[in-house]
Amino acid sequence: MTEITITRPDDWHLHLRDGEMLRGVLPASRDFARAIIMPNLVPPVVTGAEAAAYRDRILAARPEGQGFEPLMTLYLTEGTDPEDVASAAASGLVTAVKLYPAGATTNSASGVRDVAKVMGVLERMAEIGLPLCVHGEVTDPAVDIFDREAAFIERVLDPVRTRLPELRIIMEHVTTRDGIDYIAGSGENLAGSLTVHHLILNRNDLLVGGVKPHFYCLPIVKREHHRAALVAAATGGDPRFFLGTDSAPHSKDRKECDCCAAGVFTAPNAMAWLAQVFEAEGALDRLEGFASLNGPAWYGLPPNAEKLTLRRSEAPLPAPEALQTGAGPVVVFDPGLPLHWHVVA
Ligand code: NCD
Ligand code: ZN
Repeated sequence: MTEITITRPDDWHLHLRDGEMLRGVLPASRDFARAIIMPNLVPPVVTGAEAAAYRDRILAARPEGQGFEPLMTLYLTEGTDPEDVASAAASGLVTAVKLYPAGATTNSASGVRDVAKVMGVLERMAEIGLPLCVHGEVTDPAVDIFDREAAFIERVLDPVRTRLPELRIIMEHVTTRDGIDYIAGSGENLAGSLTVHHLILNRNDLLVGGVKPHFYCLPIVKREHHRAALVAAATGGDPRFFLGTDSAPHSKDRKECDCCAAGVFTAPNAMAWLAQVFEAEGALDRLEGFASLNGPAWYGLPPNAEKLTLRRSEAPLPAPEALQTGAGPVVVFDPGLPLHWHVVA
């Protein structure tokens, strides 16, 4: 197959930032019709009013002709008011609430330390059917960074699901076989999103032959057998798995420095790399389900009416150039392998 046309995809986990960076990176998500927008700004997007203002800034930053719809989220804190969440959901302003364990990742300091303190909000969300997006890593310094996802399932996710089985939860950017197996063994109320870079990179890619700052993200990339489990889940047809790129732009100087920020910027070429991963698995016929159908179905939204066409070229494409933004250049995901797919329209 040298060309494939699918329902236009959505991105179920995206960082757009704010200000100059927002204006610079938003056009790079042009392949996606909608995206779940992460609320980890500084300061975070906590209240309905803050989400409404951020949504307006995103809409104002959209280039002419980009019909992109931001699906807003609220950043869950231990002070979040259940009624504010409920009214933001009722008005259609927010699509989900995001749980960051405090300190787990970029701008997560105001996140949740003790899940017992947000139980009132989670109960209200379960009642009204508002989904919870989770960054599934514990922050206990005693837990090794490569084991933090498995520990989160045992210590946080499973107890919350036992307590509130009606709560709809997305385990975002799943990076381990443990996560895949846990979701596969659960019911319809638990889904998992997968990034493009975690489908391609393992920890050798990050660390062997020198540390690659542009492959550093959280959750950190794992062993090869975990990566293989993610690919099997993405291409396997289970509708509870769908695409969430976690495209997370940082300026080049914040990546190439003493203390590299976590995040991989994949928005510009996510769909091309995804097509290549699915082709390698002989699963191009399942690309549409993973990128365009499973996500809306789980969130109870209609699939997009528009289409997206990707084409395979014999000659590999040139390596991507950094995106120039008003907040500095942002290096685009490049796993260093030949890429043959590109989006035509
Ligand atoms: C994200 C960011 O930069 O905001 N970084 C990342 O490595 N994925 C935060 C996150 O989603 O964990
Ligand atoms: Zn993220």
